[in-house]
Amino acid sequence: MFKRFRHRRINEKTRIKYRETFLYPSDFIWPVFLVRGKNIIQEIPTMNEVFRYSTDKLVEVLKILVDEGLKSVLLFGVPEKKGVEQSYAQDGIVQSAIPIIKRAFPKLEIVTDVCLCSYTANGHCHIGDNDETCEILAKIALSHSKAGADIVAPSDMMDGRVYFIKKALKINNLSDVKIMSYSAKYASNFYGPFRSAADCAPKIGDRKSYQMDTANVNEAMDEIRADIEEGADQIIIKPALGYLDVISKASNLFAIPIVAYNVSGEYQMIKCAVASKCCNSDIIEETLVSMKRAGADRIISYFTPYILKRLKK
Ligand code: PBG
Repeated sequence: MFKRFRHRRINEKTRIKYRETFLYPSDFIWPVFLVRGKNIIQEIPTMNEVFRYSTDKLVEVLKILVDEGLKSVLLFGVPEKKGVEQSYAQDGIVQSAIPIIKRAFPKLEIVTDVCLCSYTANGHCHIGDNDETCEILAKIALSHSKAGADIVAPSDMMDGRVYFIKKALKINNLSDVKIMSYSAKYASNFYGPFRSAADCAPKIGDRKSYQMDTANVNEAMDEIRADIEEGADQIIIKPALGYLDVISKASNLFAIPIVAYNVSGEYQMIKCAVASKCCNSDIIEETLVSMKRAGADRIISYFTPYILKRLKK
């Protein structure tokens, strides 16, 4: 006696009948690099078909994507000159863009990356002291929230930053703003392309004294638990592809929305594999499904424009 499974796979119709995991447009959060100015679309040499936009151009692109089902964006500000004060200035790049994007697309969720690495001269995510950095991160989060952000996403990996941000939001009557914390962010080589895009590569040393050791999974659970205790509403695991075990474990342990960050290196690696014809472009959907199958509720991905088009078909 043996069991028969192949009848499930006869054709697409039977395969769909037995499929366990589906992708929806609302699963996706599109990361965007913003620059100051007008009429700007800059190519990013390390990321094929990803651009830096001035706000006016971003609005044009968003018109198409929102029509196609885009529900959420994650904003990164890329300043021309370094300087920590700009990160929380009310007329900063991100702070100025939010009301314009909101006016054009009232239903689009705006998530903002809260970090210092694009603003510090040495490219690090902190200014030396952990708690002093947290005070600044809270100022950044507050400035984004005042500008109209729906969710703030601290990506610095300082201890206690969710606590500091939550407190600042509460004192300022902005508790409706949610915190999506990059709880388990590894010191990964997969961020390479992003660091050129956001001009935030560390000029000295690396980020291993604050981002997590890539060999650890139990520690990731401790980080997530601490962020939930401090008041995080959603948590990010980053990178995604090499860390599906972390996503899976977290989704089994915690009843909080889990977001997988399909990072720049994963994106570019797959772009190159497809461009060189080593792999069929179906590999994109395959890898995104793997993140959801592992337990992610939402996915931050540079493939969002691609997948929205594909899901429409
Ligand atoms: C900033 C930040 C980084 C990413 C998101 N926020 C880079 C880093 O920590 O060096 C990486 C995103 C990506 O690679 O797509 N702290």
